[in-house]
Amino acid sequence: MITPAIKFEQNKLFIIDQTLIPSKFEYTTLSSAEETCDAIRELKVRGAPAIGIVAAYAMFIEAQRNHTIERKQFQKRMDQTFNLLLKSRPTAINLKWALMRIKNIYDSYPDQSVQNIVKHIRSEAVDIHKEDYDACKKIAKNGLKILPNPCNILTHCNTGSLATGGWGTALGIIYAAAEKKYKIHVYVDETRPLGQGARLTFWELMQNKIPCTLITDSTAASLMKDGKVDVVLFGADRIAKNGDLANKIGTYGLSVLAKAHNIPCYAAAPTSTIDMSIKSGNDIPIEQRNKAEILKIYDYNNSQYNKSNVYNPAFDITPAEILSGIITEFGIFHYPFEDKITKTFR
Ligand code: MRU
Repeated sequence: MITPAIKFEQNKLFIIDQTLIPSKFEYTTLSSAEETCDAIRELKVRGAPAIGIVAAYAMFIEAQRNHTIERKQFQKRMDQTFNLLLKSRPTAINLKWALMRIKNIYDSYPDQSVQNIVKHIRSEAVDIHKEDYDACKKIAKNGLKILPNPCNILTHCNTGSLATGGWGTALGIIYAAAEKKYKIHVYVDETRPLGQGARLTFWELMQNKIPCTLITDSTAASLMKDGKVDVVLFGADRIAKNGDLANKIGTYGLSVLAKAHNIPCYAAAPTSTIDMSIKSGNDIPIEQRNKAEILKIYDYNNSQYNKSNVYNPAFDITPAEILSGIITEFGIFHYPFEDKITKTFR
């Protein structure tokens, strides 16, 4: 049973607070753009597609709250909300992509009443959510083409229903394989420092009764050397025009290891994760997060640790040429990616 991370019911937005999983499973309401920004920053909702979806709904919530004001004022208020949400996390392009879709709606109907625009914004947000689910189902179908049966898969971070509109990208392929009764087993990277693998992917797989084993991130190399991994699958937060991609810190290391051991290594992502405005991974902004995230599992509550140097990038860049392919809703792209990506966008 797939658990939706985001619910939109009677014009209200609910998310599972992912910081509480696996200890607690609880939906929480997001009733303003400010609350949504905090939830995104604190990773109560995370994963590139999920961030875009909640931001689109947050735009609707603000539009609805301002539905009685005059058209020009409304436009100004919406632009402020757009800018606020856009700043909540810098790397996942799905955030900007979804916000731009909503902005195009309120920019495109200068003569319509505010009430009508609010209705259009609502249906656009619902479409963004539904389209992501549908895209993930197509990614899953395409991904099955590269999955051996039986197989051992190694995955990183969380790319499941929690991270998306309700199905998943890399994990969505694994769900599709399980539905088709493939004999699969998944090695789940813990994903330091915040444990999205250990807390979220491991939890999702167990909920869905898919055989899985939790490993520390540093175990991947020896598992590969021992011939225990058939394929590596992960997601992406932003893909440049040339196929370089940003994903959770540790992804680059995994892809280098896979290459060294001759193991197929694929990224799975909807095309909403592709940023056509940037040429390569050099242009992708990498989010730097608080040092407490790394230190919190140690006893750092002393002045020496508090003053220590900690480097905590949330993402790294995997160069296009070491990927076996990128699995999208439009098919599987192979290196060199640029032509295929450009044609798909045309
Ligand atoms: O910091 P997070 O948990 O938002 O990072 C998420 C990832 O890196 C995922 O792999 C990526 O967003 C793809 S989710 C389908």
